[in-house]
Amino acid sequence: MPTHRNILITGGAGFVGSNLAVWLKSRNPEMSVTAADSLRRRGSEVNLPRLREHGIEFLHCDIRNAEDLRLDERKFDLILECSAEPSVLAGFGEAPDYLVNTNLVGTINCLELARRSGADLIFLSSSRVYPIASVNRAATYETATRFALSDDQTLPGMSVAGISERFPLEGSRSLYGATKLCSELLIHEYGAMYGLRYVINRCGVIAGPWQMGKVDQGVFALWMAKHYFGGGLSYIGWGGTGKQVRDLLHVDDLAELIDAQLARFGEVTGETYNVGGGSQCSLSLRETTDLCREITGRSISISAVPDNRPADLKLYITDNARVTAATGWVPRRTPRDVLASIYGWLREEEPLVRHLWLS
Ligand SMILES: NC(=O)c1ccc[n+]([C@@H]2O[C@H](COP(=O)([O-])OP(=O)(O)OC[C@H]3O[C@@H](n4cnc5c(N)ncnc54)[C@H](O)[C@@H]3O)[C@@H](O)[C@H]2O)c1
Repeated sequence: MPTHRNILITGGAGFVGSNLAVWLKSRNPEMSVTAADSLRRRGSEVNLPRLREHGIEFLHCDIRNAEDLRLDERKFDLILECSAEPSVLAGFGEAPDYLVNTNLVGTINCLELARRSGADLIFLSSSRVYPIASVNRAATYETATRFALSDDQTLPGMSVAGISERFPLEGSRSLYGATKLCSELLIHEYGAMYGLRYVINRCGVIAGPWQMGKVDQGVFALWMAKHYFGGGLSYIGWGGTGKQVRDLLHVDDLAELIDAQLARFGEVTGETYNVGGGSQCSLSLRETTDLCREITGRSISISAVPDNRPADLKLYITDNARVTAATGWVPRRTPRDVLASIYGWLREEEPLVRHLWLS
């Protein structure tokens, strides 16, 4: 029996928000689930019929506006904060207003709603809170297809298993990462000052169906979509070899974690966890290409751009030890599962989504 019955998901028409909404409502029909979104992300509108079919109410809402979150009378008992400008490249070469107003002011507006209504909060933070230069100082070696972590790491919180919550926070991390870390600090203060109950999940790359992948965000969905629909891709940075590595977490694995956290909210409240696919579920771009070719039976041309873009990471792997110890949760899906599920979704929903990659 779920302890939370009336849930608001901000960013509820986005990739993570819509999948969590559908997952929670399908398993708990008695739950009331409301998805609030401004539909800023191209493709989020495609999720609206899907939300409706699953009995999820949609609320057009811009979290930058405190007025849009004057929803006190709705008596939400949980806010799942999934709205964001989620690109690490946001703000580079342009004014950062949108990023800061959504990712930071928007968090404050959500916190205020939680304070007024006594709701609990789950916040989707990011591995991007960890400083870029420090992450790139990981000791690595090179194989034929990827960079890999060696077992002689010197930084605290970094091991062959990946990056843990003990990793140092001093240094610059991109404005995106900074808005997430600032949000985390404010959440802690709302906990201390107003008794807010919360969990912060610092997620690595999340992937799966209904992700409208683009060059600056959602790389695994983008890679599969380009193989499926045709088009070019580039290995950008790190010499153009395509050996940079990320762990990837299937969105259903994330949903299972949220479920486990909700089941023991009293125990996990106030905690911050690193959450990701972990060393068992990671891919380099090159390996992603191989899997996409195998799954789709198609090859596309991939060019090499040797120079790094700003904020590029050579490798990021999540050390899940802490969240696993607290909840028993481990990610179950493999990289092939993740890519195959994206492929299956593209095949099934092609008429609905093809314009996103073909126009
Ligand atoms: N996808 C990942 O790999 C990943 C990794 C780490 C953390 N996260 C975090 O998870 C959350 C969800 O990310 P996602 O991948 O689903 O991104 P997404 O872009 O698919 O979804 C975000 C949603 O927020 C909405 N939105 C943007 N600005 C808004 C505003 N001002 N008011 C209301 N809604 C607004 C967008 O329209 C979109 O539907 C974000 O907080 C992101 O930072 C994602």
